Amino acid sequence: EMIALSREEMGHFKMVHERILARGKTLGRYRKDEYVIALQKFFPKGGSRTEQLVHRLLYAALIEARSCERFRLLSEQLKDRDLAEFYRSLMVSEAGHYTLFLKFARKYGQREAVDAKWKALLEYEATIVSDLGKKETIHG
Ligand SMILES: [Fe+2]
Repeated sequence: EMIALSREEMGHFKMVHERILARGKTLGRYRKDEYVIALQKFFPKGGSRTEQLVHRLLYAALIEARSCERFRLLSEQLKDRDLAEFYRSLMVSEAGHYTLFLKFARKYGQREAVDAKWKALLEYEATIVSDLGKKETIHG
């Protein structure tokens, strides 16, 4: 399932890149995602490999969930129907990714503990997004 997800993500990257080129633009440099950097400070370092895996899966699930929300907003608000439909398809994929990461976190961690970590992560996230401003980013 992770291989399929990786392939899908790279397919999306290719589609986005082609759209950038079609507009006569070039792919910009990688930019640090302040939201992701801040988010990944929440769970303590160390612990068992399984615990670290669960934490990474929860970070990934939340990042995908927020991407899904942003793509939904873009797909609903854009007047460019082709671009709106493209974002809608990305939204559907991101919803699948978000639920897949959460499913794996619950598979490898203990259900109640994972759900408590998820709830705590959401509460922490609420505190960091309020500090991130309104830049043109997908997250934050
Ligand atoms: Fe994704």
